[in-house]
Amino acid sequence: STAQIGVTGLAVMGSNLARNFARNGFTVAVHNRTAAKTTALVEEFGHEGSFVAAESAKEFVDALERPRRIVIMVKAGEPTDAVIREFAPLLEEGDVIIDGGNAHFEDTRRRERELRSRGLHFVGVGISGGEEGALLGPSIMPGGSTTSYASLGPLLEKISAKAADGTPCTSHVGPDGAGHFVKMVHNGIEYADMQLIAEAYHLLREVAGYSPAKIAETFRAWNRGRLNSYLIEITAEVLAHTDPASGLPYVDVVADAAEQKGTGRWTVQIALDLGVPVSGIAEAVFARAVSGHTDLRGAARGLAGPKAAALAPEAAEAFAAEVEQALYASKIVSYTQGFHQIRAGSEEYGWNVDLGAVASLWRGGCIIRAAFLDRIRAAYDARPKLPSLLADAHFAEEIAAAQDGWRSVLVAAVRQGIPVPAFAASLAYYDALRAERLPAALTQGQRDFFGAHTYRRTDREGSFHTLWSGDRSEVRTS
Ligand code: 6PG
Repeated sequence: STAQIGVTGLAVMGSNLARNFARNGFTVAVHNRTAAKTTALVEEFGHEGSFVAAESAKEFVDALERPRRIVIMVKAGEPTDAVIREFAPLLEEGDVIIDGGNAHFEDTRRRERELRSRGLHFVGVGISGGEEGALLGPSIMPGGSTTSYASLGPLLEKISAKAADGTPCTSHVGPDGAGHFVKMVHNGIEYADMQLIAEAYHLLREVAGYSPAKIAETFRAWNRGRLNSYLIEITAEVLAHTDPASGLPYVDVVADAAEQKGTGRWTVQIALDLGVPVSGIAEAVFARAVSGHTDLRGAARGLAGPKAAALAPEAAEAFAAEVEQALYASKIVSYTQGFHQIRAGSEEYGWNVDLGAVASLWRGGCIIRAAFLDRIRAAYDARPKLPSLLADAHFAEEIAAAQDGWRSVLVAAVRQGIPVPAFAASLAYYDALRAERLPAALTQGQRDFFGAHTYRRTDREGSFHTLWSGDRSEVRTS
């Protein structure tokens, strides 16, 4: 038994991860349900490092030094359970099973509990960065026990991406499902970031009258500033691309119906359960759904819209600058919402997640890597109990400077009939949080009127009910 780590499930993500371990000097046992994939991997990439090809589960397990570390890279859900059922009986106390798929954190909690009762460690690991990240250095979000991290952490730190300052983009997120929870929220933020960028593009195209090539240039310029991020960078690439078949801008020949595999939806479902307002992320999920309803869109196509005209070219540049402000301010809001959800999950499940450390490990390798994560990390490092990112002085100032532009962009969008659900939800969240009084008092009054649901008062402790169908006097209910 010579291998330090094993990878089973050799589709692209699995084989790239196995190669990443091997390229970093680890001996890697590799296994796949159909052995042909295993042989093919070693034939093609064997020269990159030290691999042990295992045909059977038994051979695979025997190849590993103890405590064994086995990474499962198969489809989330039942396929993962099937692999666990196959391997768990072959393992010994103290061995570590690692699930690197996009598992639902509740599944991870269940699997961790079951395997713990059998003396095994189960580590749910969120891995971000796509196929290239898996090979060259992803951002890695491991959950599971502290003991398991002691054995696994050093390997993950080696193969992970490194932030600009050299710090590995991985650290122990917290017990059981914490890693997969944080990966889920990462994907929710990913959806919001992508939707905000899409809205910015839509506005530049329709209101400013820019061509895709010109918008690509604009994004490239933004990428040199505070918006610097992987998603802005690839947006410029996509917009600058010409479809070879038609010679048209690529973005004009792709069907405008966005798909999803479901992690953004999970983020919103869990946020609803936790009572965390993630309105920007939710609008991003809904925007994909709206785009996909070609039937509804077909039926609504002839509906009336505003008659406002596009901007004069002289005004376009100033408008583009405002779109940058709207995008940056809305981005701060979606991260604010995402970090709130992580804090809420951490409290609900007792994970004790360090939010500054999460910001830190997202700085490299993952899809939402962005320069401004440095600022988020600094905000949480300075005040670990920061109630909201918006309460951080630096972000508050930046939004203060951007808000005029943010508001004019929304006005322009509404006047011209351009849907900007994520921009609008982000601004509404900001305005709601900073409001002195919200109309929720009226909501409480209505609830008390029709259902005697009671309300609290601003000037006295306790719960109260007004006798709406009687003499309208007030009674104290507790
Ligand atoms: C990552 C990505 C990845 C995700 C897909 C697509 O962090 O590398 O988040 O895990 O599965 O990119 O997600 P959708 O199909 O839901 O858009």
